[in-house]
Amino acid sequence: MSKQSQQQNFVHQVIGHNKQKHRLVPQKAQGTGHAPVNIALSKYWGKRDAILNLPTNGSVSISLPGLGTETQIKPLIDSNERRDKVSLNGEILDENNPFAQRVSAFLNHFRKDKNSFFDVITVNSVPTAAGLASSASGYAALVLALNDLFEWQLADKELSLLARLGSGSASRSLFSGFSVWHQGQQEDGLDSYAEAIDTQWPEFCVGLLEIDVKQKPVSSTQGMQNTVETCALYQAWPEQANKDMQVIQNAIQTKNFTTLGKTAEHNALTMHATMIATWPPIVYWQPESVEAMHKVWQLREQGVEVYFTMDAGPNLKLLFLETEKPAVKQAFADIKILEPFKQ
Ligand code: DP6
Repeated sequence: MSKQSQQQNFVHQVIGHNKQKHRLVPQKAQGTGHAPVNIALSKYWGKRDAILNLPTNGSVSISLPGLGTETQIKPLIDSNERRDKVSLNGEILDENNPFAQRVSAFLNHFRKDKNSFFDVITVNSVPTAAGLASSASGYAALVLALNDLFEWQLADKELSLLARLGSGSASRSLFSGFSVWHQGQQEDGLDSYAEAIDTQWPEFCVGLLEIDVKQKPVSSTQGMQNTVETCALYQAWPEQANKDMQVIQNAIQTKNFTTLGKTAEHNALTMHATMIATWPPIVYWQPESVEAMHKVWQLREQGVEVYFTMDAGPNLKLLFLETEKPAVKQAFADIKILEPFKQ
């Protein structure tokens, strides 16, 4: 079966198009969706199935309210161009733009016929592709907007399955607070979705240290594929990552911040070790990233309990509890502090 029809089959199973043919007929003039970005505390890096976007390991994340994507979608009518109209942050993208191409490829699964195109307006409140997980909030918001346009009334599980097909980490961006993306075992991918972890932790803080917001040199999709193919160390990753995921889930449930912080930092560094040991090497860090890591370690030596995590980019995300806010602010003048359970 071709990639396109394998994905199409998956989408049809999730939205129930096989049983109800009207599922791809817009039910209103436009659909809207909003989704937060999420930061993985134990990471997703590597696919066991690149067509259905199935991960080699599960992951856990925290969503950041206030940072995310707002998407509007409507059927494109009266257009001479036979393609979608995709705009990002107020700018209409041309057809060679990689973002527009990826969105259109995803939308191929939702066209009622080959003449139906969409007008998609995306506004991000995070820099696109700078390691702040904007593809995650982007695909989650797009799926919510489609759910609204077609009035599917899907449950969270189904929304997460569809978002996953757009971008793996998007499966976790449908929820506020903590969420867990189950790796799943089935070949059809219907058991690989995320759900919310029902723990409120009002003292939990995330600090964003923006080192560089330029487009990353290697996309996550390409980067993880290269790692899986060329990095011998990667063999150890899935088992370690699944262990970390369990430890972090328990630490969330028991509110054991020390265990959460240590495990999250170690998990991120282990993932970056596999990136560095990829060929050609993938080094997302900038000198300032390493400088900031040393600063975090120095703070810990001084008794300030702060940890960091990093994704496919040079920026650090600091993890700490409210009591450490003054010390963290003093050490990092430009830090943006978010309190995920207070917004
Ligand atoms: C390092 O979800 O962007 O941020 O599924 O190919 O779209 P695709 O990859 P993506 O990868 C995110 C990788 C990460 C870790 C994480 O968010 O878990």
